[in-house]
Amino acid sequence: MWISFAGIITNYKDVKQFLVQKGHKFRSDTDTEIIAKLIKHIHGLHPNYSFRELVEQVIQQLEGAFALCFKSMHFPGEVVATRRGSPLLVGIKTKTKLATDHIPILYSKEHSKLKDHRPHGHEIPAHGLARSQSTSEFLPQGDNKEVEYFFASDASAIIEHTDRVIYLLDDDVASVEKEGVLKIHRLKRTLEDTHAREITTLKMEIQQIMKGNFSSFMQKEIFEQPESVVTTMRGRINFDSETVVLGGIKDYIGEIRRCRRLLLIACGTSYNSAIATRQLLEELTELPVMVDLASDFLDRNTPIFRDDVCFFISQSGETADTLMALRYCKQRGALIVGITNTVGSSICRESHCGVHINAGPEIGVASTKAYTSQIISLVMFALMVSEDRISAQPRRSEIIQGLRNLPDQIKEVLELDSKIQEISKKVFEKKSLLVLGRGYNYATCLEGALKIKEITYMHSEGILAGELKHGPLALVDKGMPIIMICTRDNVFVKCMNALQQVTAREGRPILICHKNDQEPQKYGSSVLEVPKTVDCLQGILTVIPLQLVSYHVAVLKGCNVDCPRNLAKSVTVE
Ligand code: AGP
Repeated sequence: MWISFAGIITNYKDVKQFLVQKGHKFRSDTDTEIIAKLIKHIHGLHPNYSFRELVEQVIQQLEGAFALCFKSMHFPGEVVATRRGSPLLVGIKTKTKLATDHIPILYSKEHSKLKDHRPHGHEIPAHGLARSQSTSEFLPQGDNKEVEYFFASDASAIIEHTDRVIYLLDDDVASVEKEGVLKIHRLKRTLEDTHAREITTLKMEIQQIMKGNFSSFMQKEIFEQPESVVTTMRGRINFDSETVVLGGIKDYIGEIRRCRRLLLIACGTSYNSAIATRQLLEELTELPVMVDLASDFLDRNTPIFRDDVCFFISQSGETADTLMALRYCKQRGALIVGITNTVGSSICRESHCGVHINAGPEIGVASTKAYTSQIISLVMFALMVSEDRISAQPRRSEIIQGLRNLPDQIKEVLELDSKIQEISKKVFEKKSLLVLGRGYNYATCLEGALKIKEITYMHSEGILAGELKHGPLALVDKGMPIIMICTRDNVFVKCMNALQQVTAREGRPILICHKNDQEPQKYGSSVLEVPKTVDCLQGILTVIPLQLVSYHVAVLKGCNVDCPRNLAKSVTVE
C-alpha cells in the first residue's frame, strides 16, 4: 500500500487500539500507519470491495483533517484520493480537448442499492445536471485518449504539467480506475451539493513558481512586491476617475453599508493585515470594526448577528481556524466575505462574496507579498464603501493617488537591501529583537516580529510604543537590540517621546523613518529611510525593511528560509 497523506487524524489512538485488538502490528507511532492498517483490515473483511469502496469505508472511521491518496498492488493501475478539511485537487493533462468541462458526482449509497441489478461500472449519475453534463465519461475528444492525472494539495505543484484542475470538496472520493477514467463519488447526496465538479483552468504561469535568480522563494516574493501590488489593484482602481470597483463584492455593497458592524477574522500575518487596516475601515465606513484571531474568536463563542458582515482573511484560504470561524458565522446568518489569494480554496467557496488578492502564488512559508496585497485589498474595500460620501472625497483622493505611487516607492525601499544585510550582521547573534511603533505602524511591528521569530528562531516582540511604560521599558538597556518605526503621522510626537525614553535608558535603536527626516535620525544607531506616503499606506513601506531583516538574519544563521521548522504553509489543523 502506498499512501500520500497530509493533515492529522485526531482519533488515531482509538483506531490503533481497535486494530491492535484485531491482531495488527505497528512499526511506528504515526497516524499514517493506522490508515494503511485500517484499509488492510477492511480488505480482509470484504475482499470483494473495490479500491474506492475500501477508501470510503476507511474515511468513515477517521476524524480530523486530511488529504489522502492511495495506491495498492492489489489494485494495479488504480488511484483513489479523498479529502476532509485539507485541500486536494486533481490536475488533468490530455493531448486533446476534454469531452466535458464538468464531472458528475456518483452517489455511492444509491449505487450500492442498485448495483446488483446493473452491469459492473454503471453507476447512477447525479440528478440535477444538464443532459450534456450527465455523463461519467471523462475522456478527451478525438483518437488520442491518453490522460494523465496529478493529485496535489496546491496548484503550484502541478502547474508545470497542466493548467486544468478539479478542486475536490470535503468527502469527495476521486478514483482513477484501470481504464483511465476519473470518477468522483460521494457517500450520500446532500441538498447543498452541486452534483458536479467543474474543471477549472488555472491562470498561473510556470515562472511564477520558479525561484529564478533568487536564493529562496521568500526573497523572490519580497522582491516581487512592486508587481504584486499592481496585480492586486489591476482592473479595480481607475486612478483618473478615482473610482474603485471590486467585482466580487459590488452586489453586496448596499447590504454592507447597512450592517451593524464589520468583523475581521484571521490568523498570523493575515490577522496583522486586519490590524493594519482597522483604523482606515473605521474612518471610511463609519462602522464599528472588530478584529479577531480566529482561534480566540471560536474559544469565546463570540455573539454574531444576522446583520454582521464578517471578513475572513487568508492567503491559503484553507486555514482550519479561520474556516471554522467562517462556518460559525455563516450558521448564524452573517454575510461572509472572503479575502484570499487562492482561487477555489475552501474559504473562497464557502464565502457569499469576496476579493481575490491576486498576489500570485506565495510559496515561502513566511507570508510577505500576500500581506501587502491583503492590506491593499482591504483599503480598496474601504474606498469602495465610502464612494458615496462627499465629505470623504479628499481623503479618498489622497489614498488613491498614494496607491498609484506605491509600486515605485516599494522599489525604492527594496534598494535598501544591502544596507539591511549589513545591519542584520550586527543583530543576527543576539537573543532577542524588539520592534516598536504605534498608530498605523503598530501592525508593522507585529508583522515584523512574526517574520523574525518564524524564520530566524530568534525571540522577537512587536510592541505598541504607547505600552512601553506599562512593562516593556524594563527590558531596555544598551544591550537590547531594538528596531523603532517613527514616521511623520498623527502619532509622530508620541513616537519621538517613546524614542527618547528608549535612548534615556541607553537604548540605541535601529530607526525606520522618512527620507531626510533629521529629527528622529539623531537618536538611531542606524537609519533606514523610507519614502513618505499616506498614513494608512505607510505600513506597506515600513514592513518591507523588516521582511528583509528577517530574511538576512535567517540566511546568516543558516536557517531554512522557505520551510522553517515546525511550520507549514497551509495550517489545515486546529
Ligand atoms: C505567516 O508568515 C505565517 N506563515 C502564518 O502566520 C500565516 O499567515 C497564518 O498561518 C495564516 O495563514 P493564511 O493566511 O493562509 O490563513
